[in-house]
Amino acid sequence: MQAEAVRALKKMVAQAKAEGLTISIESGYRSYDVQVKAYNSILKGYGQAAADNESARAGYSEHQTGLAVDFGSESCIIQDCFANTFAAKWLAQNSYKYGFILRYPAGKSAITGYKFEPWHYRYVRYRLASELKRTKVVTLEEFFGISGSVRYK
Ligand code: DAL
Ligand code: ZN
Repeated sequence: MQAEAVRALKKMVAQAKAEGLTISIESGYRSYDVQVKAYNSILKGYGQAAADNESARAGYSEHQTGLAVDFGSESCIIQDCFANTFAAKWLAQNSYKYGFILRYPAGKSAITGYKFEPWHYRYVRYRLASELKRTKVVTLEEFFGISGSVRYK
């Protein structure tokens, strides 16, 4: 991952730990080839609609920028159950202080193009993360007035 994001990530995870929570880092930077595999594994099991709802195709994932990270807790890793963990609740409340945002929130899939991913965060720096918090705008698409759904050629 990018160095600045890693520094912020380490601080965030350390603070969570100090408050008694274990937050694991399950996926950070992904190369094109790794993203191909991530997409294809969902495609194989669940078909194209499900794959496009959960995974970017290679070349389009934030994970390829080195700014995105997927978290796990002791009880749930990169699955819907993560939303109910203390780790997820702590992250949703506190991540902005470290410059991270929940990138694919619940109820916003028509806007972001992806299903609710309670585990996926993106580093956008404190200034933008705190501005999103202050204005109660929860997606980058709405904040910047852009469309999130990728049209693949
Ligand atoms: N799961 C997110 C959308 C990605 O593949 O980048
Ligand atoms: Zn992710």
